[in-house]
Amino acid sequence: MKGIILAGGNGTRLQPLTSAASKQLVPVYDKPMIYYPLSILMLAGIRDILIITRPDDLPVFRKLFGDGSGLGLAIDYAAQAEPRGIADAFRVGAGHIGGEDCALILGDNLFHGANLPSLLRRSAEKLRGCVLFGHEVADPQQFGVAEIDRRGRLVSIEEKPVKPRSNLAIPGLYFFDGGVVDIAKGLEPSARGELEITDVLRAYLEDGAADLVWLGRGITWLDTGTHETLLDAGRFVRDVQHRQGTRLGCVEEIAMYMGLIGSEDCYELGSDMGNSPYGQYVMDRARSYGLGMPPAEFLEGV
Ligand code: TTP
Repeated sequence: MKGIILAGGNGTRLQPLTSAASKQLVPVYDKPMIYYPLSILMLAGIRDILIITRPDDLPVFRKLFGDGSGLGLAIDYAAQAEPRGIADAFRVGAGHIGGEDCALILGDNLFHGANLPSLLRRSAEKLRGCVLFGHEVADPQQFGVAEIDRRGRLVSIEEKPVKPRSNLAIPGLYFFDGGVVDIAKGLEPSARGELEITDVLRAYLEDGAADLVWLGRGITWLDTGTHETLLDAGRFVRDVQHRQGTRLGCVEEIAMYMGLIGSEDCYELGSDMGNSPYGQYVMDRARSYGLGMPPAEFLEGV
């Protein structure tokens, strides 16, 4: 399965933080925002990843991850000239997808929780059209909302409804078969001038090919689009890390535990940042690799 991180957009709600810099490079506590969605794709078992950014930001992302080989990944980059909407990712990324299944994650979405990696891998394996996720939220009016029937099957999808039919928001993580490119190519911009992801999801729903997977209470989903939610996400990461002594979204550690790089490589990556607590952590994890929890169990708790 191919992966796409959509990391463009104007980030207008976060200005002036985003006036000169990409939103997805803004720190969420101790690392750039994009580390978190990248770690989710890695935990889902995806190695071939396209990062879509604004044209001006592309060199900075390239500086951060290069071709991805340092993390045992293949990372490519594409520019989205204008923020034409989330579904534009499939037009910009058509060549990368190349008719295969793909996962799309928004560059400002954070997920954390027990057994998330196996849930993602199971969802990818049973893909038959598209998989979207549902997560209970207190304020569904702010999101795409899924309505389900008594058996938990998806019935309808509405974008930012005034009167939501459920409290199940649809987070910015989706799995699609290769047909998504043609669906995206056939879309017309909505009233707000964007190619809407909800229109793509609805096309699959009308074909009876959209599965909703419930992200239970044990999984936390955060988005970082406003100053408040950005600070909340930073506090969440800090609190979990402080309590547990382990780090969320640490792509170097995940690459090592996924078997994408060796512990010596991981140590090197840490020592390149050895002056920071983050770099020290990566070095410590590399040094103790193989001593504690078996990798598969460790990864379920990342
Ligand atoms: P949004 O939060 O909808 O948009 P934004 O990031 O530009 O922020 P604002 O509303 O404050 O102006 O985007 C969600 C994610 O999708 C975010 O990571 C940016 C990304 N995105 C793109 O990369 N291209 C696009 O055309 C759109 C609409 C979003």
